[in-house]
Amino acid sequence: MLMKSFFKYLVLIAMAGLMACQRNAHFNVASPDDKIVVTLGEENGRVYYEVFHDSKPVVLQSFLGFTLKATDNLEDNFYLKDVSYAEVNKTWEQQWGEERFVDEVYNEMKVLVEEKSGDKRQFYITFRLFNDGFGFRYEFPEQANLKKFTIMDEQTEFVLNGNHTAWSIPYDIEAYEGLYRQMPISELDTVCSPLTMKTADGLYLAIHEANLTDYAAMNLYPTGDSTLKVYLTPWSSGEKVFMKAPHQTPWRTMIIADNAGDLLLSRLMLNLNEPCQLEDTSWIKPGRYIGIWWGMHMKHYTWHEGPQHGATTENTMRYMDFAAEHGFSGVLVEGWNKGWDDWQHFSFTEPYADFDLKAVTEYGATKGVKLIGHHETGGNVNNYEAQLDDAFNLYHQHGVSVVKTGYVGTLLNGNEMHSGQYAVRHYRHVIEKAARSQIMIDNHEPVMPTGLQRTFPNLMTQEGVRGQEWNAWAGDGGNPPNHTTIIPFTRGLAGPMDFTPGIFNFDNPEMPQTRVQTTLAKQLALSVILYSPLQMAADMIENYQNNPEPFEFIKACPVNWAQTVVPEAEIGEYVTIARKDRDSDNWFVGSITNEHQRELVLPLDFLEPNTRYMAQVFKDAEETDYLSNPYELIEEELEVNAHTVLKIGLAPGGGTAIILTKIE
Ligand code: NOJ
Repeated sequence: MLMKSFFKYLVLIAMAGLMACQRNAHFNVASPDDKIVVTLGEENGRVYYEVFHDSKPVVLQSFLGFTLKATDNLEDNFYLKDVSYAEVNKTWEQQWGEERFVDEVYNEMKVLVEEKSGDKRQFYITFRLFNDGFGFRYEFPEQANLKKFTIMDEQTEFVLNGNHTAWSIPYDIEAYEGLYRQMPISELDTVCSPLTMKTADGLYLAIHEANLTDYAAMNLYPTGDSTLKVYLTPWSSGEKVFMKAPHQTPWRTMIIADNAGDLLLSRLMLNLNEPCQLEDTSWIKPGRYIGIWWGMHMKHYTWHEGPQHGATTENTMRYMDFAAEHGFSGVLVEGWNKGWDDWQHFSFTEPYADFDLKAVTEYGATKGVKLIGHHETGGNVNNYEAQLDDAFNLYHQHGVSVVKTGYVGTLLNGNEMHSGQYAVRHYRHVIEKAARSQIMIDNHEPVMPTGLQRTFPNLMTQEGVRGQEWNAWAGDGGNPPNHTTIIPFTRGLAGPMDFTPGIFNFDNPEMPQTRVQTTLAKQLALSVILYSPLQMAADMIENYQNNPEPFEFIKACPVNWAQTVVPEAEIGEYVTIARKDRDSDNWFVGSITNEHQRELVLPLDFLEPNTRYMAQVFKDAEETDYLSNPYELIEEELEVNAHTVLKIGLAPGGGTAIILTKIE
């Protein structure tokens, strides 16, 4: 805590408060670099907070509290009873991630709030201020008069200093698989977080949450030109959260960044999760794999049994041969188990007759290739939970260490939303059970991620995004070129995305209305741009066999990084990311653009000084265009160093991917 600035702001805010109206006690805390200052105060029994950045208001007086069921609200009869401060300055290591070491540096202020009369119920509001933003949460200690209670509404507000431009999707769109819309805050409907905004002054803000544990996901809706209020996803019965003290809400977070690229470098969400709870993590390994998957989405194979069944023993072994030959660690096989005829009554232990689980896993073991398991539940959670132990045991016995889970459908069990407290409890149950069987999870149709992978690093990656599969069958033609220039700054802020880049054949004769709307070079670049510690090279192996040169990039691109930098970015327009491999001195660069062509001017100043590197560049040709000529790609090599400035043309809908190998 920097006491000098603390007192400066205390005095300033106290004076402003006295002039405006009668405000009672308030407390302040500043970020370690002094740039962000938060005030927590009380006015007429209501608790509020305010946030300043560089002495300018970012969040104006915003009230806090709860509407409860069948008892007095936690709302307008409170005072600030006590305050304590703490400073934390440490670095922790990520087993996998966008960088190896994460700085966790913040100042904390914890304020005890108590009812002025009556039951004298209490809760804490804890703020943690980092240099790149802040988080706060409500904590309910054990107490006589607040044991079990039901939250009907969380009243948390974010009164912003302007009607900022926001990128959002509706909170209830199925599985968060929507195209992000750009509009002013005042025009939003109820949207999920992360909610990313740009202010008129060019500041970038992103509101989200961290450590969603036994609570409902946070959504936001506007109540005026610049005010957002929290809307918790309800249970089917209308209640929002069933609470039992001691417990706490997730952290409500805001990243504050001077440029779009810095949003991607904030580790605030991870820092607000608990350290790893698993004792042995030696079995958790990131990896790149292939899958019997795109063939189903392109209607080349079926999930269910029949003449075109994809998940046969023979086909799986063929994919395993290809994986071994090209250095992939696994093969995902969907449609191996009974139940694909009605998508509701899946068995997670009974394979179809033409799939021999024992034979394929033993065959894979001889080649160093694992089967990646698949549990599509169709949203029937009751059916899944009843089989969970047997299902994980079976896979564990056969050496399967990654399972892709899925919850297709609008409601779980036909009644609960994917982001309500019921779903949050279920997903956590699966992660913990999986860890006990040494299984890593790739979760599709999830609740929006909130950084739990710090605590449970077997939660590798999740969907919750309109991914590549939409380019196979979407009625609207597929993902438009700007989609991947937006999602890193929205959904991507919530953690790894299982988008599955790497499609090499864009057209499907069966579905002529839809296609991949990128160039081939952009598909390569997406492997760097869209971070996921488990990444599937998504195409059918035949399409890789037919395109060996660009496939070299996919094979070489790591999934675990020592360091990440973002040389340039603008939401919805372009983004360039450079990442240093965790296991070598090599760097990988991805750069993508929307539907407009542009020239990438990239100073390689992130490279080690006085060192020579060989740059292998995969780029669009002059005539390349995502609509008329998407496949034309040039591969070239040149020697570079930290002083080199690369200039590379990106085609409309295009991109470039670069490997920078240190020359010893
Ligand atoms: C939707 C998932 O996103 C996709 O990857 C999977 O193939 C299907 N569900 C079937 O489980």
